[in-house]
Amino acid sequence: MGEKGQTALVTGASSGIGRETAIRLAEKGFQVIVAARRIDRLNKLADQVQGITPKQVDLSEPENIESFCKYLSDLKDPVTVLINNAGYSVRGAVEDVSLKDIRRLFEVNLFALIRVTQACLPGMRGLRSGTIINLSSIVGKFIFPMSGVYAASKHAVEAISDALRIELRPLGIRVVTIRPGVIATEFNEVGIQMTGDLMSRTDPDYKTVYETAGAGVGKMFAGISLPGPDLIADTIIKAVFSDAPRAVYSAGPMSDEFLGQRFSLDDDAFDRFMTDKVGLTGLKV
Ligand SMILES: NC(=O)c1ccc[n+]([C@@H]2O[C@H](COP(=O)([O-])OP(=O)(O)OC[C@H]3O[C@@H](n4cnc5c(N)ncnc54)[C@H](OP(=O)(O)O)[C@@H]3O)[C@@H](O)[C@H]2O)c1
Repeated sequence: MGEKGQTALVTGASSGIGRETAIRLAEKGFQVIVAARRIDRLNKLADQVQGITPKQVDLSEPENIESFCKYLSDLKDPVTVLINNAGYSVRGAVEDVSLKDIRRLFEVNLFALIRVTQACLPGMRGLRSGTIINLSSIVGKFIFPMSGVYAASKHAVEAISDALRIELRPLGIRVVTIRPGVIATEFNEVGIQMTGDLMSRTDPDYKTVYETAGAGVGKMFAGISLPGPDLIADTIIKAVFSDAPRAVYSAGPMSDEFLGQRFSLDDDAFDRFMTDKVGLTGLKV
């Protein structure tokens, strides 16, 4: 892995984890295709780092994805390292998130990931080699209330990654899931922006639930200093260059505690643990 001149693709490389990962791969000698909507940022990255090719794509637009996939299929040197990283969140109780917003979220976080993977696989199969890294989250394995829709998209990413890993192993293609905890990137800001003013549109029934859970989550984060995207980019690079990568890598604040509890408790006990953590135990409105 990592021979000079191989092609890598990083989706969502205009900021955060994707940007840091693309830089590392280019520094290791890969030709790196960086994809996102903000082409100005991708162009700037290409000016700063050798070996980077910017490609503008809106992964919420199926037609846009198809022309991007055609470009990928036509590459002379196929993608051998695929980092499916683009993603965002919307917040809100399940009742408060419109189906339109849920569909768009799944378009970017899940369907685009599947379609881009499908476009890269023929090239990898031809070589009997390749590495696919899918960005899940700690909430790929449990949910935080008021953020269930985002967690659902990441649960689906986990399932697709697990299936791909087993299906592709006989063909020499490795599939790795990354589960970041909370990382300081633009992710939080984008989530707030995509969610809009939840409190003005929710039913009064939910107000106390939001306020209580919000305070509970605030308490969980009190005093925690969030790591930047380097932590996850370094983890991705470790997986890409490993001779035998693990199925899953987790990193970041709260990943040990929450995933540890999720894997050691039964469903009812974990439900009580989470309800308690967010301060909703016994709440009646
Ligand atoms: N930060 C965290 O706490 C955290 C925790 C767990 C998992 N993750 C996951 O890690 C991945 C990277 O997140 P990050 O923290 O680096 O967030 P970020 O800084 O907001 O980066 C997200 C990237 O996704 C791209 N993107 C979003 N919508 C897109 C669209 N419609 N079409 C094309 N590209 C799109 C953005 O590019 P443009 O806006 O330019 O299109 C950007 O480059 C995501 O999958 C996220 O779910 C993050």
